[in-house]
Amino acid sequence: MSKQQILILPGDGIGPEVVPVGVEVLKAAATRFGLDLSFDSGLVGGVAIDETGQPLPEETLTKARAARAVLLGSVGGPKWDELPTANRPERGLLGLRSELELFANLRPALLFPPLAAASSLKTELVAGLDILIVRELTGGIYFGEPRGVEVVNNERRGFNTYVYSEHEIERIARVAFELAQKRGRRLCSVDKANVLEVTQLWREVVTAIAKDYPDVELSHMYVDNAGMQLVRAPKQFDVLVTGNMFGDILSDVAAMLTGSLGMLPSASLAADGSGLFEPVHGSAPDIAGEDKANPLATVLSVAMMCRYSLDAGEAADAIEAAVDAVLGAGYRTGDIASGGADEVLVGTQEMGERVLAQLEQGS
Ligand code: IPM
Ligand code: MG
Repeated sequence: MSKQQILILPGDGIGPEVVPVGVEVLKAAATRFGLDLSFDSGLVGGVAIDETGQPLPEETLTKARAARAVLLGSVGGPKWDELPTANRPERGLLGLRSELELFANLRPALLFPPLAAASSLKTELVAGLDILIVRELTGGIYFGEPRGVEVVNNERRGFNTYVYSEHEIERIARVAFELAQKRGRRLCSVDKANVLEVTQLWREVVTAIAKDYPDVELSHMYVDNAGMQLVRAPKQFDVLVTGNMFGDILSDVAAMLTGSLGMLPSASLAADGSGLFEPVHGSAPDIAGEDKANPLATVLSVAMMCRYSLDAGEAADAIEAAVDAVLGAGYRTGDIASGGADEVLVGTQEMGERVLAQLEQGS
């Protein structure tokens, strides 16, 4: 197997604490499963603004283009909140998504059985929860033109454009159908086709594509109802596919159902299988630098990297099994602790060491 290039972008807040844990886990998995990886690192987000004046320096973009996979911590924090939209740390992330054409964002919401009590919903509603949200990531209202704020009749008017072309809908739908085939074979497409023409087209295209996947049961749901159903009876869903903004919102709802934002990984994939992998949680500036952050979302993002970009499904399985074992043994960071007698409260570093020990001894 030829060498695969990995770019490490720790970013801001707790990113620089959780990302090194992910890197150690990736290196251990590479050793155990014979992956040939090389590593480079770069700046993105607020730290990049501080050092270069840009949230996404050209050098980072060049390295990201050369990489098979990028591991990103998180971007943003109060220090940069007053900057104009075009210069904010978030632009670094949005720039990577669009420049690398990472159109397919996979956000699993999986409830780890030992953590069922941490959900804000009743345990029976979420026990066994395993949803996958497939969010379109490079189009829709996030990137539509025209956009801006202008002055009309002596007052300011803000505007954005919600736009999708057929090929954008078709390619994300195909990703979602293919993932559904490997899971529960049910796909729910979420839109607002009762109001928005762009999502009427979305519904038409998804419906047409469904003919190529007769083994997947397709349904459609309006986004308001989907939000409600996610908190009413989340286990009715297998795979959800939706546009950029609806996916942003619904994936946060789905994440909270699991009770543990600190546990959720994500993958953002390009057509050639290269991708960017990041924990769903933000930069958590309130706990940054205190060795309190949960590194498991990053570790699980590394598992997704192995599965989706590095063609190393066995390594992915082993990493996930190591996380399961560590939770099963009672180790908890503060965000997932519920005060049970069999729990052992640990920090970021120790949680990482526990996972590594499992990974190295397991098989
Ligand atoms: C996410 C985040 C981003 C988004 C922000 C940080 C730009 O909320 O990844 O869900 O809106 O896509
Ligand atoms: Mg979001």
